This record gives sequence, structure tokens and C-alpha cells, in this order.
Amino acid sequence: MQQFTIIGGRPLVGSVAASGAKNAALPILAASILASEPVTVSRMPRVTDVYTMLRLLQSLGAPQSTISACATAGLSDSAVTIDPRTLTRAAPAARYVRRMRASFCVLGPLLARHGRAVVPLPGGCRIGPRPVDLHLRGLAALGADIRVVDGLVIARAARLRGARVSLIGPHGPTVTGTANVLCAAVLARGATIIEGAAIEPEITDLVRFLNSLGARIDGAGTAMLEIRGVEQLGGARHELIADRIEAGTLLAAGLATCGRVTVERIDPNHLSAVLEAFARMGAEIEVSVDRVTVSRRGRIHPINFTARPYPGVPTDLQAQLMALAVLADGTSQIADSVFPERFAHVQQLRRMGAQSTQRANGVTIRGVQQLHGARVVASDLRASAALVLSALAARGTSHVERLHHLDRGYERLEDKLWSLGANIRRESIPSRDVLLAAR
Ligand code: EPZ
Repeated sequence: MQQFTIIGGRPLVGSVAASGAKNAALPILAASILASEPVTVSRMPRVTDVYTMLRLLQSLGAPQSTISACATAGLSDSAVTIDPRTLTRAAPAARYVRRMRASFCVLGPLLARHGRAVVPLPGGCRIGPRPVDLHLRGLAALGADIRVVDGLVIARAARLRGARVSLIGPHGPTVTGTANVLCAAVLARGATIIEGAAIEPEITDLVRFLNSLGARIDGAGTAMLEIRGVEQLGGARHELIADRIEAGTLLAAGLATCGRVTVERIDPNHLSAVLEAFARMGAEIEVSVDRVTVSRRGRIHPINFTARPYPGVPTDLQAQLMALAVLADGTSQIADSVFPERFAHVQQLRRMGAQSTQRANGVTIRGVQQLHGARVVASDLRASAALVLSALAARGTSHVERLHHLDRGYERLEDKLWSLGANIRRESIPSRDVLLAAR
């Protein structure tokens, strides 16, 4: 098992570039199944979720070299080339779908390409239940015969046909549900209208990729996507957009430590709600075309917000903003309309001295002047990031355990933080059961 040892209290200062967006990479790699010629995707983040998707594609027939290319590419942007002609199977290895919910994004492409697909239902996780009813209803609307047998989704369709599909659920649109139905629609016979589509930038990047393959999709960035089905898609070269969640996390690290941090190679427009929240918390913000700089002089101010679908404050930055609120000179109210239970980080933040009360519809945070170092345990990807931010701000030494959660979505985070002046190092430690067994 691996942990970070962090000696906090040092202001982070400097510039760092964002990696490519994990949540664009995953549906785009899944969508490569639809192509008929090789696709090359650059700015590929070397994170474990990407390797999981590459191994899933390998289980569909992709050669081993696909993974090594990503793992060994130079320190600059890594690129991955997928030859879809090798992807001959319609059933991915179950272990990869159960390990990562985003693997479910291969259902729509497999169904569109092969006329059938067998994909396990994805598991839930610490951020809450992760249903797929909207995915399945959307694919059924396109004419697919969908059955769930022993935890497996068995989908069949001789030829999908265009339809009007609504993807609005009780907590707003579904990001990966939009990806699944969109990918199925691009090869369907006739026209499809997707109402209530997710408008996250990662979906817009997927639309850009599909159109570069020869798809005919209008309405990118809006909640209504219009797709005219085509007979075949070609190949393409595509550069991923920047990871706005990583960028927001790195900027929050600058604010948590009262430093001055610039994140480069990003689109500031993808972070508007987050920058507005930073400003409300007392940050000084400089924005230019492809970078943002944040700093602060005095205490962080409290903030009341609810995480919402894009363009609202993203649920994937809710925990990181909470890590700032615990240092505020007042009381904050934080809720999450997308994943109402996404508060596993609250208890761990308390170990560092955070003062909070969890209620049915959110968390009340009473800001403190100073956090202290502690041993904390990560529970999910973004909660891990929040614990790192608090450890960087805390006085003394902290240990953040179970880094496999963090490694799912952050590329070389410790290197990036170290380059900004953080005292952070990654260590391997025996897992608790190894320690217990050794007694
Ligand atoms: C995507 O997950 C992201 N993952 C998540 O990021 C992100 O938190 C989430 O969107 C919300 O923005 C990827 O893109 C790989 P949803 P997704 O379907 O698509 C409900 C991270 O940290 N819902 O948009 O799985 C669902 O329960 C990850 O990088 C249904 O009710 O989320 C939730 O309340 C974590 N029925 C809401 O919709 C469905 O069929 C939004 O979920 C599908 C979803």
C-alpha cells in the first residue's frame, strides 16, 4: 500500500501545467470502438483509470502495445493509438467494468458496432449509488433489446434506429449516460434527438472527437444534441481538453497554503463557477487565455454552495472546496445535488482538526485558524485530493494512506506539488493486515 508523507505549512508558489482530462479520455477511448481506421488520442493522462480502459480494450482484442505506448511515452504528452480493427469482441472482461464505472461507456459503442454487447453492471462506490437506468432506457429507445441477467447487461440490436431520447434523471443529466447513448446514435439509421444531455466540457470533447471521425452531431455544449446517423466512421487524431478538475485542485492547493499558484494549458471558461467560488472565499484571481493564477493575503472567507451539474460548481471539486472552507473565518454550508452522500472526506478532515456537522442535506463547516497534521485514510478519488490539500495547509506532518484512489485520476500529483514547493513524498508501507499478521 502507498501513502503520502506531507510536512505542511509551506506556501505553494509557482506554475504547473494541467494534464489531459481523464473524464474526456475514458469515453473517447470507449468511442474508438466505433472507428474503422486507427485513432490517435494525445495528451492522454497516465492515470490508472486510463490503464484500466486500455486493458478493457485489450480484452476486446487490442494489442498489448497500446498500453506500453501510453506508459512509456515521453514526459511530454503521452499519446495512445487504437486500431479499432483489432477490437473484434463484444464482451469486455468483467473485472475491468467492475473495477471502474466509466468502463460501462463501452456498452453503446459495442452495441452500435457489433449489434450486440454483454457488459456487467458497474459497481457502486463511496460517493453513492451509481444506477444506469438512464443509460439502458436511452439505448432501448434506439431500438435495442436490453436484458439484465445475473448482473450482466445483454444488449442486442440488428440495427439501431434514430429516436427522441430524454436523459434527465432525479439528480440532473447523466454524463456517461449521454456518452453511451450518443455513441450508439452516431451509427443508427436516421436522426436522434437527445434531450437533457449532459453539457460537461468532457461531453463536448467527445462530440468533437466523434465528428472528427465523420459523425454528424449538432448542439455540442447544449442540452439538446441532434445526431444524424451515418453508415461508417473513419479514423482521427485528437488532443484531449485539459483536466478542469485537476486544475481546480491545484489552484485550491495554492489557496489552502496561502501561496500563489498558476495552472497553465487550461481553458478558464471551464472553471467559471469554481473561480467565482474562489473569489467569494477571498482569492485574488488573474485569468488569461490558457492559464489562471490564484493567491490570497488574509484568511479564507466562508462560503455556502451546492455542487451541481455543469456549469455549476462541479461535484468533483466539492471536497476540495470543503478543504478550503475548514480554514475559513466563519461558517460554511456545503451540499451536493449530484451525489448527496459524497461526504466520506468529512470524517477524515476532522482528524486534522476540522469542525463540521453532517446534516441530511449537507455539511456545516465551522472554520478554524489552523489544522494539525494527522494520519488519514483516503476513501475515493476526490476525497483523497481534499485530504492532500488539508495536509499541505496543516501544521506538522500528515500521512495520507491508500493512494490508489488518488492515482485513478491524478497524474504524478506529488511531482506537481513538489515543483510548487510542497514537502511531499510517496512511500510504500505494509498494509494493515500485513502489520497485524506480523504481530
Ligand atoms: C461522471 O460520472 C464522472 N465520471 C464523475 O467523475 C462525475 O462525478 C459525474 O459524472 C458527475 O459529474 C466520468 O465522467 C468517468 P452521472 P457518471 O451519470 O457519468 C444519477 C471523478 O471523480 N444517475 O452523471 O457516472 C447518478 O446517480 C468521477 O472523476 C441516474 O440516476 O455520473 C448521479 O446522482 C466521480 N441514473 C447523477 O445521475 C443513471 O442511469 C449524475 O450521475 C445515471 C446516473
